[in-house]
Amino acid sequence: MSEKVLVTGGAGFIGSHVAERYLAEGFDVTVLDDLSSGRRENVPDGAAFVQADVGSAAARELMADGGFSILNHHAAQMDVRVSVEDPALDARTNLLGLLNLLEGGRAGALRRVVFASSGGVVYGESDDLPHPETAPKLPVSPYGVSKLASEFYLAAYAQLHGLAAVSLRYANVFGPRQNPHGEAGVVAIFGSRLLRRQGLTIFGDGSQTRDYVYVGDVVNANLCATRWQVPPVATIDDVAVNVGTAAETSVTQLARALIDAAEVTVPIEHAAARPGELRRSAVSVDKAARIWGWRPEVTLAEGLRRTYEWIQEEAA
Ligand SMILES: NC(=O)c1ccc[n+]([C@@H]2O[C@H](COP(=O)([O-])OP(=O)(O)OC[C@H]3O[C@@H](n4cnc5c(N)ncnc54)[C@H](O)[C@@H]3O)[C@@H](O)[C@H]2O)c1
Repeated sequence: MSEKVLVTGGAGFIGSHVAERYLAEGFDVTVLDDLSSGRRENVPDGAAFVQADVGSAAARELMADGGFSILNHHAAQMDVRVSVEDPALDARTNLLGLLNLLEGGRAGALRRVVFASSGGVVYGESDDLPHPETAPKLPVSPYGVSKLASEFYLAAYAQLHGLAAVSLRYANVFGPRQNPHGEAGVVAIFGSRLLRRQGLTIFGDGSQTRDYVYVGDVVNANLCATRWQVPPVATIDDVAVNVGTAAETSVTQLARALIDAAEVTVPIEHAAARPGELRRSAVSVDKAARIWGWRPEVTLAEGLRRTYEWIQEEAA
């Protein structure tokens, strides 16, 4: 019998790609998603679908009675600005939602959790880049705090209940099906403007950097995490693995690369910098290479080409 995995957020960007891959690998896949930002048509054929909030009684019962040995947790409130405006809403989805699923799973068959954390928000601002997993943690947003606190809850469940939990600290993930609200939302925003032949607006001087990783590479890391012989937890970093490219790309470089991928010419304009954004961000991927032999395989140029192609198909 195939192993049963519940993919939360599987109607969203990253979760739908992960669900697709689990199916291809022979897992029995159910997607749980409230469709708040996800789309029903993103759920791959062959996966069962349950529309519910992660914090609901239905989600908890599903975890308790559904026979899932693996929880792949991608559902989240993931808008940094929403978390600043309404930290309690962020905590309700991201912390109480996680605990609801874990408590359901504790009554059920749950053995392993793969959690979508964020290397873009758990580490503080520093010029000592790329950040290894052990870099100091100092989130500047409630969203970052909820990701970090989730990692601590998972570490506690590992100690209390023997749960094998892996936190994947994603850099800025981009690719087909991404929406404009995520941490690499700029790719979707620029892409749809290019499609309409509109100029690209850069906030600030454009030198702020991010680490852009293609969604297909992120999916590979999810598979590695699902099969990993998880070590004992002495610190949360023992069971956290960065998923990025270690390369910093400035917003200006990204805009130019996307213009190249789209093969259109539009002006680049500047607007006032937005407060509260990190200046620079990139994660080291040495650990993933060492423990899993994982490396990012898709270049930024190729990833942007595939993403722009998808944006065009969507619009057509
Ligand atoms: N995109 C990135 O660059 C990035 C970077 C770091 C971490 N992450 C994390 O990866 C995960 C997936 O992000 P994404 O970019 O695919 O975003 P997404 O918005 O496409 O996917 C999130 C999915 O979760 C669902 N969802 C939201 N709240 C829910 C709730 N209360 N109950 C049930 N379902 C709910 C949404 O409908 C959506 O389908 C998130 O946890 C996010 O924090 C993303």
